[in-house]
Formats: sequence, structure tokens, C-alpha cells
Amino acid sequence: MRFQNSLSVEKKVLRLDEVHFIRSWLEKPLATGAVMPSGKALARTMARYVDPLVPGPVIELGPGTGAVTEALVEQGIEPSRLVLVEFNPVFCRLLRSRYPQATVMQGDAYGVQRLLENFEPAAAMVSGLPLMTKPIKLRNRLIADAFKLMAPTAPFIQFTYAMVGSPIPKNPVGIVAKASERIWMNLPPARVWVYRRG
Ligand SMILES: C[S@@+](CC[C@H](N)C(=O)[O-])C[C@H]1O[C@@H](n2cnc3c(N)ncnc32)[C@H](O)[C@@H]1O
Repeated sequence: MRFQNSLSVEKKVLRLDEVHFIRSWLEKPLATGAVMPSGKALARTMARYVDPLVPGPVIELGPGTGAVTEALVEQGIEPSRLVLVEFNPVFCRLLRSRYPQATVMQGDAYGVQRLLENFEPAAAMVSGLPLMTKPIKLRNRLIADAFKLMAPTAPFIQFTYAMVGSPIPKNPVGIVAKASERIWMNLPPARVWVYRRG
């Protein structure tokens, strides 16, 4: 009975998250970048690239309603280590209520260097930003700035719905890129790209 109750609570939360997402997509389709939050299979694939034993903050860019955030916590990342940078104030409110120990920053992830200059080197950066709608120059600048904020071996983890090609061009700052298998269980199917210093 209790199990059934918790299942129905989870379903209700999911439905609410979807409503928030659809509303945000209707208002700002390009910035929201998806009609629905990422599914569990995609979120878990992203989180698996983060080693909870590596010290330092774990930065999430574009956490939305927290689908990947939840997977990071399941992966063993303490919520107090999470730094969530989100543009949408409604999503920020939701994240603050769900993860009161995390640092939620309402702001533009493309200004991450200035936003996070006083933080310790990050253990990983996880991004749900809709990069493909942005010019290549901006994407290159984002990853260059991201690597300045991260520990030397830390990964930058990004998902994309694109069928081919890396969402970040591969060579500008000596970065090695690797892609996961396509995650068919997500709607739409997606792939995770991981970038590290070469
Ligand atoms: C495709 S959704 C991904 C949400 C979540 N990570 C997930 O997987 O369900 C993109 C998210 O990035 C946020 N976003 C878009 N541009 C942003 C920016 N410049 N700075 C911070 N957040 C941004 C959107 O508000 C949205 O929450």
C-alpha cells in the first residue's frame, strides 16, 4: 500500500514536471530546448560519467526540473556539492525546494566563468543546454570557460538529440570527445558526449 502511494506521488511529480516543461517550451522553445524532461535512462547515463569519489563541486548547466540532478544524487553525489545554473526562474524555485542543500544560481550558463569564479575546481560539469541552437563560436567559448573551472581530469558531459556529430566542435582547445551509444529509451532518442582534456 505504502509502495503504491509512493509510486503515485512519483507519477504526480513527474506529471507536474512535464507541465512545467511544456509551458516553458511553449513560452521559449529555443531556450528550453525540449518538450519533456530527460528520461531516466538518459539521466542515468549522464550521471554515470561522474565519479562521486573525486572531490569538488559538481556543476549542472540547464538542470531544468532536475531529471539529471536526481540521477546525480542517486549516483552518490551529495546534494551539497551540486551547483545548478538555470535560466528559468520557475525551474530555479522548483530546484531550491527539492534540493535545499544545493547551490541554485539563476543565470546564464554562457557566463559561467564569471558566475562561478570563486568556486573550487569542479569534479565534473554536466550540461543539458540546448547547444545546437547556438553559434559554434559561443559553444567553443563555453567549453573553454568550463575547462578553466574544472579539475584537470574532470569531464564535461553533454547530451544531444542530434543524430550525427558532436555538439561541441572537437579540436579547438585540445579536447578529446567520446560519445555513448544512442539511448533509444529516451524521447526523443539521445546520445551523451563526454569531453576531457587531451
Ligand atoms: C533541454 S532542457 C534540459 C533540462 C534537464 N537537464 C533535463 O535533462 O531534463 C534545457 C534546460 O536548459 C535551460 N537553459 C537554456 N539556456 C540556458 C542558459 N543560457 N543558461 C542557463 N540555463 C539555460 C532551460 O531553461 C532548460 O531548463
